[in-house]
Amino acid sequence: MSAVEIKKDIFWVGAVDGNIRNFHGYTYTTSRGTTYNAYLILDEKITLIDTVYGPDSDEMLDRLRQIIEPSKIDYVIANHVEGDHSGALPEIMKLAPNAKVFGTAKCKDGLYKHYYGNWDFQVVKTGDKLSLGRHSLTFIEAPMLHWPDSMFTYCPEEKVLFPNDAFGQHYATSARYDDEVDGAVLMDEAAKYYANILWPFGSLILRKIEELQKINIVIDIIAPSHGIIWRKDPAKIINAYLSWAKNETKGKVIVAYETMWGATQMMARKLALGLTDAGVEVKVFDINQSERTEVIKDMLDAKGFILGSSTHDNDMLPAMAGFLHFLKGLKPKNRLACAFGSYGWSGGAVKSIEKILQEAGIEVGQPGLAVRYVPDESELKRSYEYGMDFAKAIKAKE
Ligand code: FEO
Repeated sequence: MSAVEIKKDIFWVGAVDGNIRNFHGYTYTTSRGTTYNAYLILDEKITLIDTVYGPDSDEMLDRLRQIIEPSKIDYVIANHVEGDHSGALPEIMKLAPNAKVFGTAKCKDGLYKHYYGNWDFQVVKTGDKLSLGRHSLTFIEAPMLHWPDSMFTYCPEEKVLFPNDAFGQHYATSARYDDEVDGAVLMDEAAKYYANILWPFGSLILRKIEELQKINIVIDIIAPSHGIIWRKDPAKIINAYLSWAKNETKGKVIVAYETMWGATQMMARKLALGLTDAGVEVKVFDINQSERTEVIKDMLDAKGFILGSSTHDNDMLPAMAGFLHFLKGLKPKNRLACAFGSYGWSGGAVKSIEKILQEAGIEVGQPGLAVRYVPDESELKRSYEYGMDFAKAIKAKE
């Protein structure tokens, strides 16, 4: 695949990894692989915006060499410290040792603490401009979207926004643009990315989009650092972010459980039936058979969560504990939840789940449902009714 000219003299020179299945350590399952998008601007000052993950440096360098010798790079814009975008920076600085690096103060500190390079680094802040010749760049700090160092870069002459991680997706394909791929798959991957990476930062995202609107930025293209470039309808992903950041939901419930011998699963099926019969959309996940990344994505537009676990050692089972630990970190707002599960003698899982839900700031809408050993007919009926009761509570919140 060649470098792609996305606007006059602005080229995508990134790397595509269709095989990667785990990202950020093992926190994110990339079932469609990913891309690391770097961009080259050809001008009086030859400028590279971000780089790629270190092991993919050669792929980026090959694409750069289709256009220029990397030694000719004058400026490198470092929108973000994280290794998937800065990993190839030491190699670039070896090839172009006189290049100047631009980024936020926290980026300067973070890059030094990663690579210990003695590079010419210019700290920039929101509103600072850099002339490249025919093009210019405006910098917009974006702290905690999603690291303290994060920054957006905007090219007003070509109306291209380079927001780094924001508006990205882990989606490896030979296509580069939103009008070249299946729109439903693209939005599914964008939602998965938002839910698993950006969900905790909703209020900052709302403020950042407001800030962009206030300064009347006109955007023809959003060129993120992962996945597909938004050129057909950049407003689509901005509007989706606005909705997700406001924690807008629909009357949908996620039932997620971990079961030891199947009793908790029996309860899950019955309460899901109760929800369905009450007219509420429901998705059921055995979390040991599901990718956490996908379950979290499905939670993004769900109003309600029903979480269950068998009791083991007076507590929930370990996969549910890990799942809840991750969910708590995402700080979902405006949700209703409850807990259920089977136990043998003393119980404990339901109370533990409720405690973590409360710690996460999620409203527990009804008392937990615990059943000793295997549910009998009346307990299955109670599980069904439990689902129906939760459906009513969800509808009352709409
Ligand atoms: Fe894609 Fe925060 O790195």
